Amino acid sequence: MNFTYFLIILVKLLELKNIKRREFLSNVCPTVAFAIAGISIIEACSKDENVDVSEQIQGGFTVEGNIVRIDLEDSSFSLLSSQGWMNFTSQQILLLKLGPNSYRAFTNECPHRGNRNSWTYNSAESKFTCSSHNNSYPSDCLSDGTAGGVLKCYSTTLEGNILTVTKS
Ligand code: FES
Repeated sequence: MNFTYFLIILVKLLELKNIKRREFLSNVCPTVAFAIAGISIIEACSKDENVDVSEQIQGGFTVEGNIVRIDLEDSSFSLLSSQGWMNFTSQQILLLKLGPNSYRAFTNECPHRGNRNSWTYNSAESKFTCSSHNNSYPSDCLSDGTAGGVLKCYSTTLEGNILTVTKS
């Protein structure tokens, strides 16, 4: 039995139960209505057709284009409080806490050869070090590191516990 015949039988059963066919058809998606009329089904019905897929919410942050909003109180970012910095690998951002209401954000792409996951931070010297080739990069957003130039900064704003990073 193909899908069209199944729908026809379903409609007949609904009629037997005194449910008006017109009501039924007005409540199904156009694809199903076309199928009942004998037109082939090309795509499935979906209630989510108008969902904005540019925004995703997971793990205490949202992403919309190049803007990342971070809930600093989410447990995913507890390292930022406990050690003062973290490599936010899923968004390729290094986060640095300078004080209770002061944060900086950087690309996690090393200016030397682009490695992203070999970072440590020395708070006494205010420098990130990439252990791939042991180059270090000041966190002042201005000074050159030991190879490849400045570690690129992103702009940030803080509102309450939400840190917004604009990657550009
Ligand atoms: S890639 Fe980071 S120091 Fe070489």
